[in-house]
Amino acid sequence: MSRLRARARIGACAVLCLLGACAADESDAAPDAAAIEDDASTPDDAGADAALPDLPPDFTERELADLATLRYDDGPPPVDPSNRVVDDPAARSFGQRLFFDGSLSGPLIEADNDGGPATLGHVGEAGRVSCAGCHVPASGFVDTRSPHKQISLASQWTSRRTPTLLEVAFAPLFNWDGRRDALWNQAIGVMESAAEFNSGRLFVALQIYRLHKAEYEAVFGALPALDDAERFPQLAPDEAGCIEKATSSGPELVCRGKPGDGADYDGMDAEAQDAVTTVTVNVAKAMAAYVTQLRCGESRFDAWLDGDQEALSASEQRGAQLFVARGQCASCHSGPNLTDGKFHNVGLSPAQVAVAFIDHDDRGAAEGLAAALEDPLSTNGAHSDGDREQLPAAVTAEHEGAFRTPTLRCMNARPSFMHTGQLRTASQVVSFFNRGGDPPGNYPGVNELMPLDLSERDRADLVAFMAALEGDGPDASLRTAPP
Ligand code: HEC
Ligand code: HEC
Repeated sequence: MSRLRARARIGACAVLCLLGACAADESDAAPDAAAIEDDASTPDDAGADAALPDLPPDFTERELADLATLRYDDGPPPVDPSNRVVDDPAARSFGQRLFFDGSLSGPLIEADNDGGPATLGHVGEAGRVSCAGCHVPASGFVDTRSPHKQISLASQWTSRRTPTLLEVAFAPLFNWDGRRDALWNQAIGVMESAAEFNSGRLFVALQIYRLHKAEYEAVFGALPALDDAERFPQLAPDEAGCIEKATSSGPELVCRGKPGDGADYDGMDAEAQDAVTTVTVNVAKAMAAYVTQLRCGESRFDAWLDGDQEALSASEQRGAQLFVARGQCASCHSGPNLTDGKFHNVGLSPAQVAVAFIDHDDRGAAEGLAAALEDPLSTNGAHSDGDREQLPAAVTAEHEGAFRTPTLRCMNARPSFMHTGQLRTASQVVSFFNRGGDPPGNYPGVNELMPLDLSERDRADLVAFMAALEGDGPDASLRTAPP
């Protein structure tokens, strides 16, 4: 594999290693900083652990009550008033088809796209990126495909790790930083991101007209005459999205077909703009109707909560106890999906990922929520069918450097952890929490964690417990494009 370069999204403050400053990572198997840093316990610690019998713990009433609050909820997710087609079977099936369809995406920008199996195609090629390219259905809808399996490479490198879509319909706000307040406006963000689809709402609407007219109209009614070149500039796939232009101050993106492009979209009259946005919003609502069905399912832990004593080993039961008691994990990883859905600063000092990318001052929710509050496509806007009322009134100090607590359901397929993807194993994550996060100085905001003083066996027990949160995942019929 050739040496990879990575680039931050425009506007992100990322540090690119200067040529020669970072060791070239020639294979995914090469040890990385995080793997080496995984803590070795003291001999005393290990000796004391080894002497302990491998027995299940005695639970207090309180611990059992706390654990019961983590029982999987197999009922439907909360109603989404912003999406009128969320329960419509035809919309769900249409959205599922589009989830696996690359034809809404523009050209690949990043030169690391060399056509190899870890990439989605060759730089310059259009039509290569689908949602499933990063949210890989066979891997619990996380990205096990991109080079290095940390951040994702589609048109460009993303600046954060791809989260799972399992159970996502239960999240109050979306993305690691709360940047979107509905599953459908999140999908539009993907289409208009130069790093992901590198497309835009005009091109998406045109492609729906060209390729999916009948299926769209069966759900949403007649499409406008999007083949009318007078009103709707006819972008070809290789004209969609952005291209990189060299300028004296570095590469700059020049884009077509989305608001603020100063080009094809901005040049349309207000009515044509609204018609295009309406089609793209509808398409995104169909995608959201599909995504809403993606569930992890009940795990061995839930069978144990229901009374099957054999469902968890002694170590997994000790891990369950630690999770709600001494480990204090359930203070944030609470409720049926083991997440409070809120934003927390856990003091993660970003490390280099995917060879050359370090996002040193990712402000997380402080920036994401501010953007969501300004988003014309938020659920209190004209294109929403109702307000989800999840956005805070304002951004506050505790959002600084804070990221949404991830679900721990169906965690086993994740190839890396945290919003950066810098930790490679669950055991490294537990060691991170055990030391109370990283010392201040290298991340924005104030770390909420305290060191835990867990023994080596405690840490192994927590890892074992989290591995027992695996469910069957969505039905096979939801893991491929519909027939
Ligand atoms: C380039 C890889 C990539 C592609 C392609 C992609 N995603 Fe994502 N997705 C991500 C990343 C990375 C994030 C997290 C972004 C962040 O927090 O800044 C994300 C976040 C999400 C979320 C929010 C998850 C959560 O826990 O809040 C949803 C929903 C989602 N994507 C759906 C989609 C859909 C639908 C598509 C296709 C239209 C899609 N994604 C295509 C990488 C991708
Ligand atoms: C203060 C709230 C808080 C506490 C306490 C907490 N977590 Fe987390 N956890 C988070 C947040 C927030 C993240 C994501 C942080 C990031 O990406 O920057 C996270 C990430 C994780 C991840 C990585 C998941 C993924 O997909 O990347 C695991 C595993 C995890 N926590 C397990 C634990 C365990 C085990 C404990 C107890 C020892 C614990 N957490 C305590 C909030 C918390």
